[in-house]
Amino acid sequence: MALQVELVPTGEIIRVVHPHRPCKLALGSDGVRVTMESALTARDRVGVQDFVLLENFTSEAAFIENLRRRFRENLIYTYIGPVLVSVNPYRDLQIYSRQHMERYRGVSFYEVPPHLFAVADTVYRALRTERRDQAVMISGESGAGKTEATKRLLQFYAETCPAPERGGAVRDRLLQSNPVLEAFGNAKTLRNDNSSRFGKYMDVQFDFKGAPVGGHILSYLLEKSRVVHQNHGERNFHVFYQLLEGGEEETLRRLGLERNPQSYLYLVKGQCAKVSSINDKSDWKVVRKALTVIDFTEDEVEDLLSIVASVLHLGNIHFAADEESNAQVTTENQLKYLTRLLSVEGSTLREALTHRKIIAKGEELLSPLNLEQAAYARDALAKAVYSRTFTWLVGKINRSLASKDAESPSWRSTTVLGLLDIYGFEVFQHNSFEQFCINYCNEKLQQLFIELTLKSEQEEYEAEGIAWEPVQYFNNKIICDLVEEKFKGIISILDEECLRPGEATDLTFLEKLEDTVKHHPHFLTHKLADQRTRKSLGRGEFRLLHYAGEVTYSVTGFLDKNNDLLFRNLKETMCSSKNPIMSQCFDRSELSDKKRPETVATQFKMSLLQLVEILQSKEPAYVRCIKPNDAKQPGRFDEVLIRHQVKYLGLMENLRVRRAGFAYRRKYEAFLQRYKSLCPETWPTWAGRPQDGVAVLVRHLGYKPEEYKMGRTKIFIRFPKTLFATEDALEVRRQSLATKIQAAWRGFHWRQKFLRVKRSAICGLHDIVVAWNAGTRGLVGAAEQGVLIRGFILRHAPRCPENAFFLDHVRTSFLLNLRRQLPRNVLDTSWPTPPPALREASELLRELCIKNMVWKYCRSISPEWKQQLQQKAVASEIFKGKKDNYPQSVPRLFISTRLELLPKPLQPGLCPQYAVPVVKYDRKGYKPRSRQLLLTPNAVVIVEDAKVKQRIDYANLTGISVSSLSDSLFVLHVQREDNKQKGDVVLQSDHVIETLTKTAISADRVNNVNINQGRGPGRDGTIDFTPGSELLITKAKNGHLAVVAPRLNSR
Ligand SMILES: Nc1ncnc2c1ncn2[C@@H]1O[C@H](COP(=O)(O)OP(=O)(O)OP(=O)(O)O)[C@@H](O)[C@H]1O
Ligand SMILES: [Mg+2]
Repeated sequence: MALQVELVPTGEIIRVVHPHRPCKLALGSDGVRVTMESALTARDRVGVQDFVLLENFTSEAAFIENLRRRFRENLIYTYIGPVLVSVNPYRDLQIYSRQHMERYRGVSFYEVPPHLFAVADTVYRALRTERRDQAVMISGESGAGKTEATKRLLQFYAETCPAPERGGAVRDRLLQSNPVLEAFGNAKTLRNDNSSRFGKYMDVQFDFKGAPVGGHILSYLLEKSRVVHQNHGERNFHVFYQLLEGGEEETLRRLGLERNPQSYLYLVKGQCAKVSSINDKSDWKVVRKALTVIDFTEDEVEDLLSIVASVLHLGNIHFAADEESNAQVTTENQLKYLTRLLSVEGSTLREALTHRKIIAKGEELLSPLNLEQAAYARDALAKAVYSRTFTWLVGKINRSLASKDAESPSWRSTTVLGLLDIYGFEVFQHNSFEQFCINYCNEKLQQLFIELTLKSEQEEYEAEGIAWEPVQYFNNKIICDLVEEKFKGIISILDEECLRPGEATDLTFLEKLEDTVKHHPHFLTHKLADQRTRKSLGRGEFRLLHYAGEVTYSVTGFLDKNNDLLFRNLKETMCSSKNPIMSQCFDRSELSDKKRPETVATQFKMSLLQLVEILQSKEPAYVRCIKPNDAKQPGRFDEVLIRHQVKYLGLMENLRVRRAGFAYRRKYEAFLQRYKSLCPETWPTWAGRPQDGVAVLVRHLGYKPEEYKMGRTKIFIRFPKTLFATEDALEVRRQSLATKIQAAWRGFHWRQKFLRVKRSAICGLHDIVVAWNAGTRGLVGAAEQGVLIRGFILRHAPRCPENAFFLDHVRTSFLLNLRRQLPRNVLDTSWPTPPPALREASELLRELCIKNMVWKYCRSISPEWKQQLQQKAVASEIFKGKKDNYPQSVPRLFISTRLELLPKPLQPGLCPQYAVPVVKYDRKGYKPRSRQLLLTPNAVVIVEDAKVKQRIDYANLTGISVSSLSDSLFVLHVQREDNKQKGDVVLQSDHVIETLTKTAISADRVNNVNINQGRGPGRDGTIDFTPGSELLITKAKNGHLAVVAPRLNSR
């Protein structure tokens, strides 16, 4: 028989199976002790399933430890009261099946283990029974699992809700809108292979029978800069790659596209068009089918694909400068396709791409663009075309989701359930306009969250007639005002600077900010900061002290991004488009409208205010998502990363507010039902009002007045320990009840069948003997319960006769259980908490265990793997925290050759230890030339095919220089006295960390790698390294080699 241990208060069920110890529930003390101890150690092992039950609820460490314990056991969900905290498992846990859905339907939120479906069901039932609109707000940082949670919720409703009487297709449309929106709005980033690059709020409408009958989507701030640029290791939006991989030959031919994404400049900026975790071909099939479900006609699909293809062609439009430095389009073929796909006049488009139309005193003037301006205009057009198409797409989906029954009388009784999947706080090394908007959004949502949480707490207390004790909390209105206030807020100042005539720049905007908000306690700049803080702020930066922490923003690009200008003649050209989608996206009224369009920040602010209004009108539920590690790996719990998220999600503040009054509250009926067996007066039935029964029960249990309060319909318990003691008493009681039931059952059979009676009697005798033995060890029946409970309550007191038995038992079982709870590998830092008396022994055992694991691990390492680890360790020593693209190199294995074909041996029998393709920049004109770098036992050899171009003996290699940015350039310094040498060598390798680590090890120059901040010396020249938006290596006017490298941590 298996023992069942049920943990309160949320009823997580853990089966503790003792295969070798058939559990004799009838025997009294042993069975009881085992069960009780299992309950205690289970709680120790898997933590509490509601953070409000943490004894030390103000401790962040205790919070994280609880998360860790649960995560280790694959328990990814934990509550903070009604808020669900979810940790991304990065593996399929098989917890979203139809059976799971059924398990959570119609049960009380707290009586089942925490789960997303519990939230889904609670929200749905409230919607149906109270007929109040609901909203589930899902937040968390990129990769934390917001979109997955949204999809699971939708699936839950699609599968468990009744089908509508008419228009059953709406369920499919709701589900199928996802792949389409994801294709156009999601992309692979460094953080998430399917990252949503827009915020999404989706309403699902239910009729009075609870069937989904319609839906509506709002989207926020699509990251359109991605259309023209992607950081290293990231991709453009999925749809481009899907179309190229999965599109039919005929379609591609019509669109003038080649299948290879490498042919399109907009697709290769991040250098990772192909990703192993993504199957573009099959995803395209899904999208194609979904488009049909959401009512796209074949013509509409064609029009849409024409636009997608036109963006790719736009990216390949090149310009050359004529004698007057004016830009001319040189890629006729692309222009031809563009003209056709966008259905515009070829000459108009050509002119619009190379000229700017200015209206001065009613007259139109055409001013030619230079190369840089033309590229800017081209990119602005691509971004505008794509982002407006995205907005159109959302509108199109909305038309398909709109309830067809809007006219019917039942329409008035529909209710709405909103799902908000929106970006969480973003704090990067380099924060720009986008982070500013996103963090402002989080600030607003946090304000709403605290307001609503406090409000609902207060309302509950009021409804229950319990005095409200004011809760101290941080009100972030002051920060919201700083950003959004009219005339004085940052957005107003930014807009003013964007609109004013004259030379406005990002820096004049910063100065204006400094003038206007300099006294604000949450605002800081280099100029305003004190001596010490000033060091951490650049001159072009400002810092906001958000509710969650400080974020420093660089003002570079703020004006440009906020203005988001598209030259007038490009707009005119697009307004003339005959592509039906384009003509809806570019409306002619825009041209005649004299008013300047709203800036991006103001548009965003307005849409946020609208969102807050929507959410305020609904009953909120929250899902807070956490990502356990940056490597997208299952089982890895990166504490630093998690601590950061706990902070930025405001979880500790949430817990503090929730725990300010009472840790636990439950309806009288539910409480009495669960614990009535603990009191003779309430067991087996209580005839009076449940409230009176609970009063009798808690008096019997000895609750002190300060430990609880009786509300109108609920009991409120202040401390978790009171609840745990009650729960433990219940466990003991259950076992003794089981004994009685078993005895009664035996009696029944005794009367029925003589032989059975006889056997039962023998069993009974046997039981009595064992029970007697147990009794002689100290405990039987009711006395045993008392000893255990008293022992448990006094477990923190010094050893005394009352707790001795309990303490001994805890020790023994700690040691016995330890075997099953040992850490799984050297990186697993878990260890069960020992009882106080065993702390020292536990520490010694832990050391022994770790040594043993380390020893075993070392023995199992192969020589190749050892070499790999040694090289990785050297790379870490040289580059960690010093070079921007070092983190990207960590998960990639170092290998011995990057060449498909090794050049012929340099000398017979001499094989290179390492070979990699490099680009060599010559020292005079910095012309790039393709070469191969080989490491032999004695020298670095630069080869062109099989021809040796240069050989640097390790003895002559004095050092290596490299920049701290994400570029892959490096300089090999050669001894100046060595006349055979031509001087320092400037090279570039796509595997720069690997190449330099191997070179440094082979030449014994690990301590001679210089990582430069801005300028790299070459013997014959200088290299200037500057951070920028994309990688650019050019010869500058001052004769230096100019290297601009992107920061990988920016959005
Ligand atoms: N509950 C889950 N079970 C299994 N895997 C999950 C779960 N949640 C998330 N994942 C995994 O994590 C990945 C990232 O999740 P998701 O796309 O939902 O993140 P996100 O919070 O929406 O991030 P972003 O802000 O970048 O859009 C998913 O593609 C999936 O592989
Ligand atoms: Mg997402």
